[in-house]
Amino acid sequence: MKEFYEESEKLLRFIENSPSCFHVVKNIAGMLEEKGFTALEEQNCWQITPGGRYYVTRNGSSLIAFQIPEREFGGFQLICSHTDSPSFKVKEQPEMQADGKYTKLNVEKYGGMLCAPWFDRPLSVAGRVLVQDEQGIHQVLINVDRDLLMIPNVAIHMNRNANDGYTYNAQKDMCPVFGDELAKDSFGKLIASEAGTAPEQVLGSDLFLYNRQKGTFWGNEREFIASPRLDDLQCVFGSLRGFLEAKPGKNAAVFCAFDNEETGSVSRQGAASTFLKDTLYRISLASGKTREEHFAAVSGSFMISADNAHAVHPNHAELADPVNRPQMNHGIVIKYNAAQKYTTDGISTAIFRTICDRAQVPYQIFTNRSDMAGGSTLGNISNTQVSLRAVDIGLPQLAMHSPYEMAGVRDTLYLERAAKLYYSSTICMSENGCITVE
Ligand code: CO
Repeated sequence: MKEFYEESEKLLRFIENSPSCFHVVKNIAGMLEEKGFTALEEQNCWQITPGGRYYVTRNGSSLIAFQIPEREFGGFQLICSHTDSPSFKVKEQPEMQADGKYTKLNVEKYGGMLCAPWFDRPLSVAGRVLVQDEQGIHQVLINVDRDLLMIPNVAIHMNRNANDGYTYNAQKDMCPVFGDELAKDSFGKLIASEAGTAPEQVLGSDLFLYNRQKGTFWGNEREFIASPRLDDLQCVFGSLRGFLEAKPGKNAAVFCAFDNEETGSVSRQGAASTFLKDTLYRISLASGKTREEHFAAVSGSFMISADNAHAVHPNHAELADPVNRPQMNHGIVIKYNAAQKYTTDGISTAIFRTICDRAQVPYQIFTNRSDMAGGSTLGNISNTQVSLRAVDIGLPQLAMHSPYEMAGVRDTLYLERAAKLYYSSTICMSENGCITVE
């Protein structure tokens, strides 16, 4: 069991150090560079050598890393996850006064969060700031690493129906308190000082609220973890650790982490953008493939779309499908949806089950109840840009899109083991022929 706790401990530290999507990408890049990966820039021409390890970022919030086999490669084997989580974005000119005695921040929703758990707990702000100096404008990541903000509930005495269901109004209910009346005009100064500059040098920012409560182990045998942003940093971390341990077979190994999944992936750097398509094409060209050979390579490629899944809820077991009932600590969840919100089909599940069996990793099944719509993720969206045979998976969790989520202590390592074996194997398939996993 020790290895499960050690790996979960590393996951919790990774999340703690990654309070915004920009920090996620910075920390992934750090782990890649430690293992000898070279950073490429999208605006430069790429030199790629056989056996090389590289990564490229877009907007500082999405990242693609890849390992090229020593000998000429066939296709690509990818795992894709997302760097963003539901939060509140700080609006421009954020300060607002309340009753002449409070200074609040004006914020707006980012993604589809559960609002209630954001109340009555210490919050802070992290993200990036654009700073002007003599050389030009550069990006500085900041994390105000202290308890800075709170969103107070209305007392039960003033809202007697609070426990009977409440509709949260993002403009009215969700603005965090930043200080008393003396805090007026301080927020910009605080952000500038965190960025090591003066307020007049700050030309822009992308700042998000985050929950200050650190990750923890809990339960009778500490069999569960709780943490902010398990969706989807648990899959980011698990697939990355497997990727770093792998030695690619005859296909190139590709690790992807995209921003903006929580708002539909439609952005310059999201899964619906050209980032993946461009990057795969450039890898092919820089490796000496022709355009024709690139399309042939893509057609034989495979993607694992990794985004967390719902475990059966202990107080609402009726919300799960009557037969397929994922549980935390019982392994990787393969997700199915007839309407193809999830990419999994008979062929891709056969390939993924083969990987799990070989890696000796348990897996389980998620489908929505037939009378519930459920969510979607980045696999099918990414397929609109570059079409790959794909499977949708995730790790089982509770309280998805709360600022404090729950998962199993074992499942991260299961994903790492499956990812390592997947990236080290060669999947070979043609449209109608036999599929092999070697
Ligand atoms: Co997700």
